[in-house]
Amino acid sequence: MAYSSLRPFDVEVRDGLRVSLRDVVPDDGHLIELGFDRLSKQSRFFRFMAAKKRLTGREIEQFSALNTKDHAAVGALCMRANSAQPVGIARYIRTGTEDHSAEIAITVVDAFQNRGIGTLLLGVLAKVAQAHGITEFLALVAKENDAMRHLLHELGGTDETPGDPEVNISLTIYQDPQNYPNNKVGAYVRRAYALTKLTTV
Ligand SMILES: CC(C)(COP(=O)(O)OP(=O)(O)OC[C@H]1O[C@@H](n2cnc3c(N)ncnc32)[C@H](O)[C@@H]1OP(=O)(O)O)[C@@H](O)C(=O)NCCC(=O)NCCS
Repeated sequence: MAYSSLRPFDVEVRDGLRVSLRDVVPDDGHLIELGFDRLSKQSRFFRFMAAKKRLTGREIEQFSALNTKDHAAVGALCMRANSAQPVGIARYIRTGTEDHSAEIAITVVDAFQNRGIGTLLLGVLAKVAQAHGITEFLALVAKENDAMRHLLHELGGTDETPGDPEVNISLTIYQDPQNYPNNKVGAYVRRAYALTKLTTV
C-alpha cells in the first residue's frame, strides 16, 4: 500500500488563529529545528522523556523523512511576517511491518498550546493512520503530563502499563469518528476527521 497524502487545509482554532495543516516533507528540517528551539524545557522533557538541548542532524532527517504508510507526520504552521512558523507536529510509527498498532508523538509549541491544536493534530493523524490500516495508537506519556493524558483518556484511551515515571496509553482508532466519545474532545476529533481528505499518489 502506498501512502495516501493529506490534502493541505487551513482551519481557524481557538483565539482566531489560522493554522495550515499538511504532510511533513523532507524540506521541513529547518521548521522542525525552529519548533524544537521554541519548546520549553518541560515540553521537551514530555516529548523526549529526557532533558534534550538540541536535535541531532540525524533526528532532523528522520523527523522530516518522506511519509510512508508505516511512518507519517503531519505539521501545523501559521504565517507571521510573511513566513511560515512551526506550530505543532504529530507522527505515528507502526510498531511492526504487519502491525495494526503505531506509536505516536504529538508536540505543540508552547506559545500555541491550549487552543485545541494538539487535539486537531491527533484527529488528523488518526484519520491518516486508519486509512493506512492502523487501529491502535500507543503513547508513552509522562505521569505528570496531564494535558496529554487528559486528551487520550477523553477519547477513550486506557492505561496499559501504569508505570512510573511514564505510562503507556492505548487508544483505539476508528474509521467512523462517531465511535469516539460524546464529549468535547471527541467532537473536536470528529471535526478534524471531516477536514482531513486524503489523495492517493
Ligand atoms: C500535549 C500537547 C500536545 C497538547 O496540545 P494542546 O494544543 O495544548 O492541546 P489542546 O489545546 O488540544 O488541549 C487538550 C486538552 O487538554 C486540556 N489540558 C491542557 N492542559 C491541561 C492540564 N495541565 N491538565 C489537564 N488538562 C489539560 C485542555 O484543557 C484540553 O481539554 P479541553 O479542550 O477539554 O479544555 C501539548 O501540551 C504539548 O505539546 N506538550 C509537550 C509535548 C508533549 O507532552 N507531547 C506528548 C508526548 S506523548
